[in-house]
Amino acid sequence: MGGDAARDESSGPVTKVLVLCGAAGVGKSTTAYEISHQLGRADIPHAVIDTDQLDQVHPWPPPGLAPDELSRRNLAAVWTNLAEVGHTRLILTGVFVTLERELTWIADAVPGADITAVRLTADVPTLEHRVRRREIGSEAAGQLTRTLRQYADLRRRPEPPGTTVIDTTGRTVVSVAAEVVGVWLGGGGA
Ligand SMILES: Nc1ncnc2c1ncn2[C@@H]1O[C@H](COP(=O)(O)OP(=O)(O)OP(=O)(O)O)[C@@H](O)[C@H]1O
Ligand SMILES: [Mg+2]
Repeated sequence: MGGDAARDESSGPVTKVLVLCGAAGVGKSTTAYEISHQLGRADIPHAVIDTDQLDQVHPWPPPGLAPDELSRRNLAAVWTNLAEVGHTRLILTGVFVTLERELTWIADAVPGADITAVRLTADVPTLEHRVRRREIGSEAAGQLTRTLRQYADLRRRPEPPGTTVIDTTGRTVVSVAAEVVGVWLGGGGA
């Protein structure tokens, strides 16, 4: 498995990590699933992890732990299992407004990670439409408020060097996913 991965002589196979980030509701999970379908059809081994699941606990953060620490430990534990069965390609999704900081705990959790960061964006009406279409529970208004705040925060922040930004406004999931796959397989590392 993972025969296309570069090899680091000193520490074993390099793990190719795709970090797919952007405001909540922009389409990270949907795009990650579509990427997974496209890679699957090309028979390229990979694993997908939604990092929201790594620290979805209450209270958060767990008392006594730094904000990223539970995510780091959980990712390290899951990655150990995936690496043991031969995986060398990992797709991670997360909002990651503070991308530079997030890349630090991801690199700590995945030894030898070669990270490609892709930020998905969309204009405000598109974001609003996507959030409203998805959120039908009691947190709909709250989610929209958080998404618009993330959108504003993201616009203020410079991307870490090497980050690819893809505007998904008016585009299909299939075409966005194909572009991300091209960036990742093409070797656009952060
Ligand atoms: N390119 C696209 N075109 C049209 N609709 C899209 C596109 N990408 C995602 N969507 C839709 O937008 C909604 C939100 O997508 P998704 O749940 O993947 O967002 P997310 O970024 O993973 O959000 P969260 O951070 O909350 O997990 C879904 O209803 C999805 O079908
Ligand atoms: Mg998601």
